Amino acid sequence: MKLVRFEENDLFEADIHEATVVTLFLLSSVNLKLRPKLLKDLEPGTRIVSNTFDMGDWKPDKQVSMDWRTVYLYTVTEQAKAEYGGK
Ligand SMILES: C[S@@+](CC[C@H](N)C(=O)[O-])C[C@H]1O[C@@H](n2cnc3c(N)ncnc32)[C@H](O)[C@@H]1O
Repeated sequence: MKLVRFEENDLFEADIHEATVVTLFLLSSVNLKLRPKLLKDLEPGTRIVSNTFDMGDWKPDKQVSMDWRTVYLYTVTEQAKAEYGGK
């Protein structure tokens, strides 16, 4: 892998453990279903950037709104893994 890898795959089957940044443009319901996998598979320090849809009660480090859309930034931490990884 160089800097970026694009894959056409089922999100829930994708091998993401080497990612350092994951970008998402899904739906709130899919983000919430995917959250345990993200927090299980990704190393601490990995950033997750989600277009438009947040991660429920996991609060973003930062959110930026432009026109009608908001982008949310999350960082995987041991605390987030413990708090949100199982739900
Ligand atoms: C809001 S749309 C965004 C479309 C596209 N990502 C984009 O940037 O324009 C949400 C997309 O999530 C995709 N999606 C939902 N569940 C998925 C899954 N398990 N694996 C891969 N894609 C999924 C849907 O097919 C849909 O295209």
